[in-house]
Amino acid sequence: MTRILHVVGARPNFPKVAPLIPAIRQEDAACDQFLIHTGQHYDYNMSRIFFEELELPEPDEHLNIGTGTHAEQTARVMLAFEPVLLKYRPDWVVVVGDVNSTLGCALVSSKLGVRVAHVEAGLRSFDRSMPEEINRLLTDQIADLLLTPSGDADMNLLREGIPAGKISFVGNIMIDTLVKMLPKSELRTIRQDLGLQEGEYILVTLHRPFNVDDSSTLREILAAIQIASQRYPVIFPVHPRTRKNIAALVGIQIDPRVHLLEPLGYLDFLTLTRSAALVLTDSGGIQEETTYLGVPCLTVRPNTERPVTITHGTNRLVPSTKGGILEAVDSVFNGFRAPIDRPELWDGKTAGRIARLLLSGAPLVSHPPDV
Ligand code: UD1
Repeated sequence: MTRILHVVGARPNFPKVAPLIPAIRQEDAACDQFLIHTGQHYDYNMSRIFFEELELPEPDEHLNIGTGTHAEQTARVMLAFEPVLLKYRPDWVVVVGDVNSTLGCALVSSKLGVRVAHVEAGLRSFDRSMPEEINRLLTDQIADLLLTPSGDADMNLLREGIPAGKISFVGNIMIDTLVKMLPKSELRTIRQDLGLQEGEYILVTLHRPFNVDDSSTLREILAAIQIASQRYPVIFPVHPRTRKNIAALVGIQIDPRVHLLEPLGYLDFLTLTRSAALVLTDSGGIQEETTYLGVPCLTVRPNTERPVTITHGTNRLVPSTKGGILEAVDSVFNGFRAPIDRPELWDGKTAGRIARLLLSGAPLVSHPPDV
């Protein structure tokens, strides 16, 4: 009987694991599955609400590692995860995405000889100043099964010397969650509750250290948002890191048309994304969700590890400056629309493909090498 241990730690992990657990159960009801929450994110609206909305099972173990420097956080994940791994002795550890918990658990598993499957493998920004890029590179080097969301990811892995036999192009698992949750999101009333008209507001999220930890960059971005709000109201659910940094800005006045909210749950956020005029973000996953939904996305970053959202989707990179952001916002207001062509295998069926692979061990989809 196969034993599979899933790891979640931070907010973007939850929609990636949620579809996988039932997909594995459907494939093999006898498979033993365990869910480990490292506790990298711990607030109700950064963690618990996702368990409720996405119907994730209660974690079998909670490691309560909390926040800290990168070394502290990664080290605490490793120290806490090792005894858990020895207790459960799974056939597979499944890690997702690129957060510190992903790398910490992959490293412990690999050293104890437990096979690691990495969901969302192969994404590269080629920017090693981002902690997530280091996490992606290292996790992929030690993983035994690399499950990729897009063809560029396969090419990155092959270029880094990963044997082709370890790589499987399975599609984007976040889209499974999105497809499943769309009908439920249609029942939410948050847009009406906030008094927003369909297609007539801007949705903002920001949390990357390079945008929000430097006060002059944060001021530039906020200045652009305030000006954009003269055209359409801005809805800005604020990440805890960003909230602390905005609070520390001396003399900043936030226009009442910029609505600073607590972080939202999955369903409310999806509801607001679907009907936004545009989304301004530095998130990874939101670039993908907007591409699937056909909503214009401006990503406040110099690069992206998700280039298909630019080549196939609605995403565009913008600099972290007032002028750069406003120019891009204006171009969307003036009717610029990227043609949408949903990336291959972003079809809501990725979890099933991963489940079959984990349970059979054989590659399911060999990658088209022409990407
Ligand atoms: C982490 C991930 C990032 C991901 C992001 C999504 C890494 C390296 N970074 O960054 O890739 O995009 O999550 O949110 O793993 N905090 C709270 N409550 C919480 C969680 C965090 O108040 O529930 C505070 C912490 O005290 C800390 C700050 O938010 O001051 C940052 O949290 P941390 O987990 O260190 O990194 P993120 O910026 O969230």
